[in-house]
Amino acid sequence: MKISNLPIDAPYNDGQRAWLNGFFSGMQSYMSQSAGVSSATESRIVTILYGSQTGSAETVAIEAGTIAKSYGLTPIVKSMDEVEASAIATFEYLLIVTSTYGEGEMPDNAQLLWDSVCAESMPRLESVNYSVLALGDTSYDLFCQAGIDWDNKLAELGATRIYERVDCDVDYEEPAQAWISSVIPLIAGGSGVSNIEGEAGASDKPEYHRKNPFPARLLVNRLLTDASSSKETRHYEISIAGSGLSYEAGDALCVIPTNCPDLVAEIIKALNCSGNEEVNVSGELIGLADALQNQFEIKTPSKEFIEEFATRSGNQELNGIIAAGDKDKLSDYLWGRDTLDLLLQNRIAEFTSAEFVNLLKPLQHRAYSISSSGKQHPDTVHLTVASVRYDSFERNHKGVCSTFLADLVGAETPVRTFFTPNKVFRVPDDNSLPMIMVGPGTGIAPFRAFLQERDYRKASGKNWLFFGDRNAATDYIYRDELEAYQASGLLTRLDLAFSRDQDAKVYVQDRMIEQGVELFQWLEQGGYFFVCGDAYRMAKDVDQALHAVIATHGNLSEQQAIGYVNKLKKDKRYVRDVY
Ligand SMILES: Cc1cc2nc3c(=O)[nH]c(=O)nc-3n(C[C@H](O)[C@H](O)[C@H](O)COP(=O)(O)OP(=O)(O)OC[C@H]3O[C@@H](n4cnc5c(N)ncnc54)[C@H](O)[C@@H]3O)c2cc1C
Ligand SMILES: NC(=O)c1ccc[n+]([C@@H]2O[C@H](COP(=O)([O-])OP(=O)(O)OC[C@H]3O[C@@H](n4cnc5c(N)ncnc54)[C@H](OP(=O)(O)O)[C@@H]3O)[C@@H](O)[C@H]2O)c1
Ligand SMILES: Cc1cc2nc3c(=O)[nH]c(=O)nc-3n(C[C@H](O)[C@H](O)[C@H](O)COP(=O)(O)O)c2cc1C
Repeated sequence: MKISNLPIDAPYNDGQRAWLNGFFSGMQSYMSQSAGVSSATESRIVTILYGSQTGSAETVAIEAGTIAKSYGLTPIVKSMDEVEASAIATFEYLLIVTSTYGEGEMPDNAQLLWDSVCAESMPRLESVNYSVLALGDTSYDLFCQAGIDWDNKLAELGATRIYERVDCDVDYEEPAQAWISSVIPLIAGGSGVSNIEGEAGASDKPEYHRKNPFPARLLVNRLLTDASSSKETRHYEISIAGSGLSYEAGDALCVIPTNCPDLVAEIIKALNCSGNEEVNVSGELIGLADALQNQFEIKTPSKEFIEEFATRSGNQELNGIIAAGDKDKLSDYLWGRDTLDLLLQNRIAEFTSAEFVNLLKPLQHRAYSISSSGKQHPDTVHLTVASVRYDSFERNHKGVCSTFLADLVGAETPVRTFFTPNKVFRVPDDNSLPMIMVGPGTGIAPFRAFLQERDYRKASGKNWLFFGDRNAATDYIYRDELEAYQASGLLTRLDLAFSRDQDAKVYVQDRMIEQGVELFQWLEQGGYFFVCGDAYRMAKDVDQALHAVIATHGNLSEQQAIGYVNKLKKDKRYVRDVY
């Protein structure tokens, strides 16, 4: 089947299409082996709702729709913020595909529906048949919590679970394929075959995705912060020339790093190995040094490693925390300690190379919000990355990917990359509408791209940036560009908050409150409100400040302000790219 035949109204961008092609060819071989139904089920509607922050769950949902169609079903694929909770009672077959965000929370586009489903007014769902696919990451405490919550809630409301929930870790493609290939034929029922093979177009060219990244070249690696700054933020320009790839302002570029060779060598030494030992990686025997450098997360300790280490080392403090199941104490204990710190601290815990490797998680890509507009820079992708470097337990520690880019990539080193779209985090189509952008620290990245995009479009709409960082003298990144945009009139307002330039901290949300009258006016004029950067503290505080501004200057009660903000979210005028 050609991508253009997919039963979805939403447009694809290249990142999605790229992933879809890879996923899709996997599904073809899966489905060609499995039995489906005849066209008698044409009228059976299956509603597939997704909750997704960075597009993975969305892409799986779209794929489930494609496969459902090939089985003669009528799929309706929708983002969770496109349906009313009361409509769920009318769905005979419902598939939920959702990721988890924050700390076990719903992705932004699932939150409002979830709130409504949890309300007392929610009707019973006795006639609904459902199954849930949950995307998550086992390195988070509340693994796949959003999917678990949906699964439990639907059952509690009387819906029938027709297929057990599947929880997927970061390598979600295979379990997602397996879920689709089980649940779709189940809904289709009867006999028959998927017609997907016949429809597969020979013209579907392989493109770049997580399993087949584009080997890009790093052209520019420039320090943005001053050399005397307490932090290090860098500007990168990565060439995608010749790839055929394109991107939109608001998308992210994912980078697949390799580990630092020095850390690899130190771990090999701590294990009393030579590095030449052969270890089994997905059925293939490779050298330990190679495996540690290219295949596994060796910095952040996996849960499996921590537990096995605690048992073998007999470390009383760690065993006590694990036995008590105290997650906060465990993160306090682990703060600043990496895998090597643990190995060095209790040398009594011995692991063979094979045992050690079996306790590691696969090395993952890291996402970076793109800080350039694909219109102004079709051949390069710009990134704005804070290098993670800190000293603890008498060692220098380095973040894997941020320092891979900073220290390890040379002109000839291929940087394995792929795009992930963020379809709602976009410059408004209507060039006349105001944009309010809140992006402290590296949160400025997509807003540099947005400003370039507005510039390219010669958009008449007003632009307002709230930016901040630690100290103006050392951390005012992209200052020249922002001042030039102010001078040209592109940047209508720029409000800065340098947190450490005075005794009391000043943050972007303080500036929002100070400028509340005008901020509310911009919203009333149809303005879009964008937030990027830290999810755990900044985005929550900015959200509170937004509610306060709306309540105060709109003369609204707390409940009415919540309603106002919810309407902004529903209209996709309040969107976030937070991490
Ligand atoms: C959609 C999205 C967009 C993003 N965009 C950007 C962006 O534009 N720019 C950007 O810089 N990042 C961005 N990130 C974050 C980025 O993906 C990485 O998480 C970040 O670069 C760190 O990765 P790393 O491999 O260098 O560090 P890792 O090896 O993953 O190590 C990070 C870990 O180190 C530990 N740690 C960090 N600092 C300290 C400290 N001071 N003391 C003790 N322990 C510490 C923490 O456990 C932390 O989780 C984005 C993330 C997402 C999901
Ligand atoms: N979830 C995550 O893992 C996560 C989230 C964000 C960033 N990071 C990583 O951390 C590194 C640095 O990130 P960064 O440059 O974006 O940001 P940052 O250095 O953490 O902070 C940027 C600015 O935001 C301020 N800030 C702190 N708390 C705030 C709050 N509650 N509300 C508003 N502003 C607040 C900081 O002030 P003070 O520091 O003076 O308090 C600083 O001025 C990067 O590697 C990034 O990837 C990780
Ligand atoms: C900031 C952040 C918070 C996350 N929190 C959780 C979590 O609490 N539990 C979990 O299982 N996964 C968590 N994840 C992992 C995502 O659910 C996972 O990467 C998923 O594949 C993303 O799918 P999406 O692209 O559809 O949003 C988190 C990811 C990020 C970036």
